[in-house]
Amino acid sequence: MGTLTICDHPLIQHKLTFIRDKETKTKDFRELVDEIATMMAYEITRDLPLETINITTPVVETPSKVVSGRMLGVIPILRAGLGMVEGMLKLIPAAKVGHIGLFRNPETLQPVEYYVNLPADATERLLIVVDPMLATGGSANAAIASLKSRGCTQIKLMCLIAAPEGVKAVQEAHPDVDIYLASLDSHLNDHGYIVPGLGDAGDRMFGTK
Ligand code: URA
Repeated sequence: MGTLTICDHPLIQHKLTFIRDKETKTKDFRELVDEIATMMAYEITRDLPLETINITTPVVETPSKVVSGRMLGVIPILRAGLGMVEGMLKLIPAAKVGHIGLFRNPETLQPVEYYVNLPADATERLLIVVDPMLATGGSANAAIASLKSRGCTQIKLMCLIAAPEGVKAVQEAHPDVDIYLASLDSHLNDHGYIVPGLGDAGDRMFGTK
């Protein structure tokens, strides 16, 4: 089973409170999501392997550590995942970015893929799928399955807020995928919204509706 990590750093929890608040306006919402994504990128890269190189400081020659060439990819699920990309790239600027677009078939309620564009070397990269809300897990599962069908094997999932239903669905479908959250909320309501949640992340981020 993949790990479930709740990024409970006080600054992340503080900023999360303000993105939940319905009075928070689009500009602030977007900035806060960006900042939380940067801090979560710090957590999700915690186990990157290091190697030792030799450098010379102004004082002495010394062995010193650098990240050992692990190549990363950030994969936002369109559209709300886009709001987390820039924040992550602040910490991992060499990462490449792929996109997966999904919509929900109104009759079957199943996610349908309408757009996939991945880095050419995606199969060699550690891919971090990003989407602010993990509700039923339908979109995350479809995105992860899409990556796996293209030969990608190293995949992590990073969301701001999840419902237990979504976490369970991803853990069952993709037990090899580690999940990172800022908060595990109470449940999904009858309309598929996470409670307490923050409403529709895409609408709040882009000022639609
Ligand atoms: N998607 C959202 O944007 N919000 C929810 O609460 C659930 C899914």
